[in-house]
Amino acid sequence: MDNQFYNIGVESQELAPIIEAFVTALKHDSIDESIALTDAQKSALGRFQVTGVISDVGKFKTPTLRNIALTAPYMHDGSGKTLAEVVEYYDQGGHANPFLDAAIFPLHLTDQEKKRFSCLYDLTNQLFKSLKFRANINSDVISPKLNTIPF
Ligand code: HEM
Repeated sequence: MDNQFYNIGVESQELAPIIEAFVTALKHDSIDESIALTDAQKSALGRFQVTGVISDVGKFKTPTLRNIALTAPYMHDGSGKTLAEVVEYYDQGGHANPFLDAAIFPLHLTDQEKKRFSCLYDLTNQLFKSLKFRANINSDVISPKLNTIPF
């Protein structure tokens, strides 16, 4: 995670019905007259809303993964309810859209490989874990790792 902006497809379904017309209007500088965006569609534009640069459509900043076990739901729109869902999302290659980053494609991970992402939990401060915050930690863990922590 490098604090840069990427289009990984999150919320891009919102733009799907209008993306072609939107891009065409952008290229012809006629965005105001021809396209009325819903609030959800404006949100899905991501970094583009700040820069107005077409290649920034649907880009969002990579967040820190520190203490990730405590910060569900995930992604800017909260669409990942658990870390397992996030891993599943990446495994399926994100939501297709014209601006999807080249690094996002179907991974075809095995169940064992998916479980290895439980190492994400190691990014969570031991102090939080030991302060009996466990009730707030997503119980739908991708590995039994948290259950082995003595509370
Ligand atoms: C399989 C490997 C990956 C894993 C396990 C992973 C994990 C995660 C997690 C857990 C989040 C949610 C963080 C939060 O909401 O607090 C996240 C968000 C994000 N990741 Fe990844 N990531 C992976 C690969 C990538 C790649 C390759 C990119 C860049 C091309 C990327 C870019 C992003 C971005 C931009 C967000 C924020 C999305 C949003 O807020 O809508 N990730 N990632």
